[in-house]
Amino acid sequence: MAVIRRLPKYHRYLGDLLDKDIQRISSKELSDIIGFTASQIRQDLNNFGGFGQQGYGYNVEALFNEIGKILGLDREYNAILIGAGNLGQAIANYSGFRKAGFEIKALFDANPKMIGLKIREFEILDSDDIENFIKNNKIDIAIMCIPKNGAQELANRLVNVGIKGIWNFAPIDLEVPQQVIVENVNLTESLFTLSYLMKEEQ
Ligand code: NAI
Repeated sequence: MAVIRRLPKYHRYLGDLLDKDIQRISSKELSDIIGFTASQIRQDLNNFGGFGQQGYGYNVEALFNEIGKILGLDREYNAILIGAGNLGQAIANYSGFRKAGFEIKALFDANPKMIGLKIREFEILDSDDIENFIKNNKIDIAIMCIPKNGAQELANRLVNVGIKGIWNFAPIDLEVPQQVIVENVNLTESLFTLSYLMKEEQ
């Protein structure tokens, strides 16, 4: 899992190299820009069959594509976003997810005052209709941007209708069956880590 957590970073840096038309790179050079040691990089990439060649280094495009495949980025995902408040709108307004193959198909909210409002091309839909929408639109991922209260109940509904993945922004550890993947994002935890590291530095 620790290696998997590093893969998106490799993917991002390799994408930057490709944008600069750099076609080949050694683990030492990669180490200088990413900040992991060269031996860590070789070890990480060896886990997936070692894409480098002695004396040549790595072919940037091949490695980028290979890591993309490992991350499942060689396919498209359909998502819905639930909770069209401040955070939900910010996520819906960011175009980078779609470019990466994650397409938000609809926004939902429980507040009648929000239903019918437009965010980008989306009209906010009634969250009572989530189940039908998921069934009829091959939705893989639910992005949860609602408060902690009600989050587990919503997750249960999503599970019952066969959702495969939940990208959860609500500050709660959701309980779901093993086959449903939950990835939590918590900016507050990240901020507290920053605070700790700054304190240590002083
Ligand atoms: P907000 O109040 O602006 O938006 C929440 C929206 O969710 C509202 O429109 C509300 O009507 C809707 N909602 C509530 N319960 C619902 C349900 N059961 N089904 C459908 N819609 C429902 O709040 P904001 O600022 O957007 O924050 C949303 C959540 O995200 C909060 O839980 C907050 O703690 C969390 N948050 C998490 C961050 C992170 O890094 N994980 C960062 C910022 C906020």
